[in-house]
Amino acid sequence: MNIKTLIMEEVLNQEAYSAPEIPCRIKLDANESSYDIPPSLKSRIIESIEKISLNRYPEPGSPDLRKGFAGLYGVDDDMLIVGNGSDELIQILLMAVKGQASGVMFPTPTFAMYKISAFNTGHRVIEVPLDSRFDLDVDSMLEIIADKSPELVFFSYPNNPTGNCFDADRIEAILKESSGIVVVDEAYANFSGKTFLPYLDRYENLVILKSLSKVGLAAMRIGILIGSLPLVHELNKVRLPYNLNTLSQIAARLYIDNEAEFRRQADGVAGRREELSNELKKIDGIYPYASDSNFILFGCTFDTDSIYDGLLKKGILIKKFNTPGVLENCIRVTVGTPEENEEFLGALRDILTS
Ligand SMILES: Cc1ncc(COP(=O)(O)O)c(C=O)c1O
Repeated sequence: MNIKTLIMEEVLNQEAYSAPEIPCRIKLDANESSYDIPPSLKSRIIESIEKISLNRYPEPGSPDLRKGFAGLYGVDDDMLIVGNGSDELIQILLMAVKGQASGVMFPTPTFAMYKISAFNTGHRVIEVPLDSRFDLDVDSMLEIIADKSPELVFFSYPNNPTGNCFDADRIEAILKESSGIVVVDEAYANFSGKTFLPYLDRYENLVILKSLSKVGLAAMRIGILIGSLPLVHELNKVRLPYNLNTLSQIAARLYIDNEAEFRRQADGVAGRREELSNELKKIDGIYPYASDSNFILFGCTFDTDSIYDGLLKKGILIKKFNTPGVLENCIRVTVGTPEENEEFLGALRDILTS
């Protein structure tokens, strides 16, 4: 028997998503928070674990958390789904919408999971390159909407890996014209201070995604989807009943109760991002792009492989892009603690002068 004959062609044609664990001292490759959560909060998680009956399923649909997040975001709790990371919510959206001839549209470069999950759920993919300022090519996107009516459009806002927020008017132009769902993925919104939440009243086809992965809880896998009541009603039929485990539910509750503290930490990251960017600008041959996120993309006139290898020899892990196109010779670095940033900058200067 040839097992492959049973597998979807879209799956056969892909490589599995690989995120290898590369040993390092300073991890600046995955846009995580460099700080673990404060020990006082961590011990509250540990105390809560002692009270869990591990023989029981988690609370389905996380009603308590939905109320808490609804309070934070100023929306009705029935407009919300809590997911096993926003990755799961992207997949739920793709599983729920019809995937016939039209397609799923997103700009490139952007977050890889839009494409991977679209293929895995049998959708066509329509990629539209960003313009030279890493903003949306709104004319091309509007043409595609008029021509093909994509069932879903994804915008990472700010965009991973370029770091910038697209022009809000361009996104709104697409929201207005699209007959499909427009997803504004705000995984990095804690560092941009920008959100499409106020647009929810105006656009029934708008969905907003949030994530706690970039603010110190990546290990807990917590994402939030916010959309119109009729859409969320349908999406809940696709969501698995116990999608958020009890431990993650406890961590999410802790986030809700201590949101101001998490926000202060994110504000600190945004401040250090500007310092790091200014220091990078001072290095000959390094060209950082403006960022609204907790990472910075920079181009370099040097060989990125030797920068990557040199940094890794010193225990510092960053993300290199050596794919042809706009990301050629680009490196993405997560904003770390002040000490990590200092060490990264020192190591980079050393490598470039040696
Ligand atoms: C734009 C964007 N959206 C979503 C995610 C995934 O978030 P989560 O960890 O909540 O699944 C990432 C992770 O890197 C991301 O960059």
